Amino acid sequence: MIDVSDLIGRHIKPDDLEAWCRSAMIKNGLSESDARIAADIFTSADTRGIHSHGTRQIRQLMNNIKDGRINPHAKPEIFIDLPAAAIIDGNNAMPTTNAAEGMRIAIEKAKTQGIGFTGVRNSSHIGALSYYPIMAAKAGMIGFAMTNTDPWMTVPGGKGPIMGTNPIAYAVPNGNKEPIFLDIATSSIAVTKILSMKAVGKKLPEKWLVDENGIPTDDPSGYPEKGALLPMSMHKGYGLALLVEILVSALSGAASLSSINCWLNDTPKFANEGHAFMAINVEALAGNKEFQERLDKITNEILSAPKAKGGKIMMPGDIEHEKRMKAYAEGLDLPDYVLVNLRGLAQDINEEDEFNSMFF
Ligand SMILES: NC(=O)c1ccc[n+]([C@@H]2O[C@H](COP(=O)([O-])OP(=O)(O)OC[C@H]3O[C@@H](n4cnc5c(N)ncnc54)[C@H](O)[C@@H]3O)[C@@H](O)[C@H]2O)c1
Repeated sequence: MIDVSDLIGRHIKPDDLEAWCRSAMIKNGLSESDARIAADIFTSADTRGIHSHGTRQIRQLMNNIKDGRINPHAKPEIFIDLPAAAIIDGNNAMPTTNAAEGMRIAIEKAKTQGIGFTGVRNSSHIGALSYYPIMAAKAGMIGFAMTNTDPWMTVPGGKGPIMGTNPIAYAVPNGNKEPIFLDIATSSIAVTKILSMKAVGKKLPEKWLVDENGIPTDDPSGYPEKGALLPMSMHKGYGLALLVEILVSALSGAASLSSINCWLNDTPKFANEGHAFMAINVEALAGNKEFQERLDKITNEILSAPKAKGGKIMMPGDIEHEKRMKAYAEGLDLPDYVLVNLRGLAQDINEEDEFNSMFF
């Protein structure tokens, strides 16, 4: 294990982290434009406190380039192009480029058609999903993003892993305020959170897992070799995960369920994950002013509702906006499991000193 104890509790400016990640990815063979998009996506996740899907993912994606399952020279291509919808082939290019391009096309189509949808196939891991619908919200549109992943989650009545944790995110433009956004996996909890509790020998506070017999358990000690995650709220999460699976694979032609090759395992095969993006043009359908008035009415009624003792009502996305502001004001305080991956990436390109020198 790489020792990062000297960096724990120190800070790094988000812009420095982003610039260094961009340069590290270029040194691993990515083009300037692909590296710029990926560095922005992964650093944004860290600034929003979504460290499980931030810059820690870059090293493994660079290993995927080395073993041939991401092609750093490939570009996504449109192969079905309708006025309001498209399917694109990611061609196993850098997955963050595929996803940003999918969302960009959906936004462009919504500008003239009122709504735009893009399905993506032949792609891989795209990090925290909120980045993509926030692109739509910045363009004044309501955005959605979905992806499938290799199976980690069981379904009601099952026992082993059957489906991915298939996350869904949406974002809503909110006038001069930050967009409202929700970004969640459809499983009970993220895999990384279970593994970090297992690493320190803790029991889970809730039954997020089933054991090898399909019985709900609070003991993560046998996971992930045995058992599987439960869906979020059982049949509700299962039903939503299934919708994601259908939109991103049956519709776009990406792999589904057990046919997806895990981007983290030792088999150098293309992952062939699928994604879906949607944009709805607020100005065209409601008028920006009218929409904002109606949205304010909704959010004000919720935020001013009676509170539980000691309770605070927030909009989805508020927690992440606060963390992002703090990250830009004070610098990022990265957790050890992120630092380990980043320092490993620095060692891979002989830049440990440059990397360490950014922390204060
Ligand atoms: N790319 C992939 O393969 C993949 C797979 C699974 C998960 N993920 C990512 O993992 C991340 C974490 O997912 P998760 O399921 O652990 O998320 P989570 O359970 O931490 O929920 C986060 C969301 O809930 C909102 N929220 C939290 N508390 C709230 C409150 N009190 N009131 C209103 N809103 C509140 C947040 O603003 C945020 O939108 C996401 O970014 C997701 O995209 C990615």
